[in-house]
Amino acid sequence: MVIFNNKKDLKNYLKPFSDSNKTIGFVPTMGALHNGHLSLFQKSVEQNDVTVISIFVNPTQFNNKEDLEKYPRTLESDIKKTETLNPNIIVYAPTVSDIYGENVVSEKFDYDGLENQMEGKQRPGHFDGVGTIVKALFEVVKPTKAYFGEKDYQQVLIVKKMVEKHNLPVEIVICPILREKNGLAMSSRNERLSEEEREKAGIIYQTLLQAKELFQTKSPKEVYNFVYQTFQSQNFLQLEYFTIADSETLVEITEKQETKKYRAFIAVNIGKVRLIDTISLN
Ligand code: PAJ
Repeated sequence: MVIFNNKKDLKNYLKPFSDSNKTIGFVPTMGALHNGHLSLFQKSVEQNDVTVISIFVNPTQFNNKEDLEKYPRTLESDIKKTETLNPNIIVYAPTVSDIYGENVVSEKFDYDGLENQMEGKQRPGHFDGVGTIVKALFEVVKPTKAYFGEKDYQQVLIVKKMVEKHNLPVEIVICPILREKNGLAMSSRNERLSEEEREKAGIIYQTLLQAKELFQTKSPKEVYNFVYQTFQSQNFLQLEYFTIADSETLVEITEKQETKKYRAFIAVNIGKVRLIDTISLN
């Protein structure tokens, strides 16, 4: 298993692969790896000559200091999980200074309005931080394909937009959401939930499934009301937002149009843990 902590060594190691036109698959993560992450690694291994994954808790994408501090950091077990999946995977686990030098700040990005919806609205500066780190990592790894989870659907559209605007020669591959038995989307943040909270959090996906069913025959307003009512009776879970939006623009809708594709997006707080999920509606 090869592990790098600095970009210079990783670049040197990868150069012969790109020089000989080998395909490089890349999966950026913030660690605390679960099976959702591993499914992305597996897809990359299947589709490329070499796979690089990164583990880096990126400070500039956190708008909440406590969330950054409490973010689980489990490098040793992450490396073991990766090695067990496939010992040929190359791990890049940089330090903050390897990425940012002395200046831990974001670049500013224009994502044509995608950044003003949902996660962008709730977490100011978040997507500048994501764009900054993903672009920096792409510059080091120079991947042929990069793999992102549908769970962070807005992030995928943002990354695609950044790639398009900067003409980066990488294909973005979107991968399905892996879930726990009760439907809860796997997430590194789930580790901060108690057993009971984790069980109760199954309601998030159950509600999305019911919302999807209702959406087929009811108006968006009726679906919103159903979801608001469902969460009113939950004392463990606080609904932060539920949004039905156009799948391409992410603009919230109040009326359906036959020809458009829609998704539902949800953010829920359980104590101080913030969870998100999404589902396609048609
Ligand atoms: P992180 O939350 O660690 O997620 C890394 C990748 O795994 C993302 O593309 C995410 O969508 C995907 N993922 C997370 N949970 C998943 C699940 N249950 N099923 C399938 N895929 C899942 O997203 C980030 O890190 C960061 O913002 C990053 C892109 C690494 C930039 O710092």
